[in-house]
Amino acid sequence: MIPTDSPFHPDNAAGYQAWRAAKLAGYPTCGEDLIVKVRDPRELSDAEYRAIWQRIAKTNMAIYATDLGEAEDKEALSLLAAQFGLTHLDANWLADEDGISSLTPHEEDGQKRGEFIPYTHKPIRWHTDGYYNPPERRIWAMALHCVRAADAGGINDLYDHELAYIALRDANPAHIRALMADDAMTIPARIDEQGVARPDEPGPAFLVDSGPQHFPTLHLRYTARTISIAWKQDAATLAAVQALDALLHSNPRGVFSLGLAPGMGVLCNNILHTRSGFSDRPEHRRLLYRARYHDHLRNLRG
Ligand SMILES: [Fe+2]
Repeated sequence: MIPTDSPFHPDNAAGYQAWRAAKLAGYPTCGEDLIVKVRDPRELSDAEYRAIWQRIAKTNMAIYATDLGEAEDKEALSLLAAQFGLTHLDANWLADEDGISSLTPHEEDGQKRGEFIPYTHKPIRWHTDGYYNPPERRIWAMALHCVRAADAGGINDLYDHELAYIALRDANPAHIRALMADDAMTIPARIDEQGVARPDEPGPAFLVDSGPQHFPTLHLRYTARTISIAWKQDAATLAAVQALDALLHSNPRGVFSLGLAPGMGVLCNNILHTRSGFSDRPEHRRLLYRARYHDHLRNLRG
């Protein structure tokens, strides 16, 4: 349930307008504005910390640039994330044993992972991470760290889901109501050899998390893919989903396109993102670390 005084509550017009004005004031206009150079990601200086937090607070994301280059240093990523309250990693069976996934192409080596798009050279359409996770395993935040870049492509488009919320609510508040419904989307049952491994799981697309440690936080579960998600088949939901699809296709203001260079990464509150297709070489495979968390980004030096 969303508190009625939350700006995200569809009936709170005054609260929404005030939040919207503050949100859009001084919003960055290009991806470069999000980049913060950091000397040592394991231990940020106060100035670096403030610069990263300022971007996260405004846009739900920040890009950091280190001198790590192609060093395969997962610990640096973990320690950086922990400084913003990210400590509970999602256990995903494709992740490495430490819980951080090494996203690199596996199509040719016969590994099972190569059947999943993140482990290929293919483009990935707009989505938020872990939209299929059950409520107790929501991915509130995630980090991507580039170890080796592609020779060409592999560009990430990033879009603050709060901007998507604003665009949809401004177009028609009914879109928000539809996407906040408890049965807006259903993750289809997963069937294994023994029968049903997990039943159909309905849930909202937009939701507000108001845990004890943080402000009510807007979250979006979404994928542009149609095979792994079933939208409610009523006029209001279909209109809302179509409006969101059209918005993302229109390359709206606030979409940042970034090619992460080695040593660079993204910290975000699980914003909308894509990846373009890419090419690399067997002896120099693109490698990104991906860490998904059950925590929200928090300012621990506030
Ligand atoms: Fe993703």
